[in-house]
Amino acid sequence: TNIILLGPPGAGKGTQAKRLVEERGMVQLSTGDMLREARSSGTEMGQRVAAVMDRGELVTDEIVIGLIREKLTSGAAHGGYIFDGFPRTLAQADALGALLSELGQSLDHVIEMRVDDEVLVARITGRSTCGNCGEVYHDVTRPVPADGKCVNCGSTEIKRRADDNEDALRTRLLAYYKQTSPLIGYYHAKGQLESVNGLAAIEAVAAEISGLLGSQT
Ligand code: AP5
Ligand code: ZN
Repeated sequence: TNIILLGPPGAGKGTQAKRLVEERGMVQLSTGDMLREARSSGTEMGQRVAAVMDRGELVTDEIVIGLIREKLTSGAAHGGYIFDGFPRTLAQADALGALLSELGQSLDHVIEMRVDDEVLVARITGRSTCGNCGEVYHDVTRPVPADGKCVNCGSTEIKRRADDNEDALRTRLLAYYKQTSPLIGYYHAKGQLESVNGLAAIEAVAAEISGLLGSQT
């Protein structure tokens, strides 16, 4: 089963993707994580995209399509792929469709995570992430344990993201509405769009997604 998690910054895509990895053995493909990895390992591409990401703008289609192509062609995922934060433009959606059919694979669910803008600021500005394993925390709804250690891997390297400030978030939201939200109509027209209430508690959102996926793997 290959799925897309579609939604604005802070909708909970990464949080739900991590759960699906643990519960169903799916493989998370987050273009945001891949780009941040490229930055921290100091690759030429990573340096090129750093400023764009920190402003909250989208990096070029060419770069992210290249990253996804590389992952998809380098081996099969048994539990299927979770596309998290990709596609984000119509060109990326077309490229994903072409790539999957080239590989004889299908796109099984496009799940839109519906949220209101008002909650996003609080979610994003309260977020921190484990620098070692990527586990996602929130100051209020999912605090880091008192000993400062990641629940998943025990690392104490829990950090805030450079683009999680109000200025960059405003740009990220604009980019979402302008460049990404047309994908809702795109997948709806193909009869592939499903949606869940992203405002519910993390567990409840997970249950709703599970209901859509059923027992299939
Ligand atoms: P990316 O890393 O994809 O960031 P994003 O889309 O802005 O999404 P986020 O990671 O901020 O949010 P999320 O939905 O994963 O929320 P999370 O689960 O963490 O992209 C970053 C940048 O990279 C882009 O701006 C762009 O520059 C570049 N980029 C990436 N992909 C690209 C592409 N395809 N094309 C071009 N450029 C690209 O949750 C947020 C917080 O809320 C957490 O603290 C969490 O604990 C909490 N939370 C989650 N769910 C709930 C809930 N149900 N109730 C209460 N709290 C919750
Ligand atoms: Zn960790």
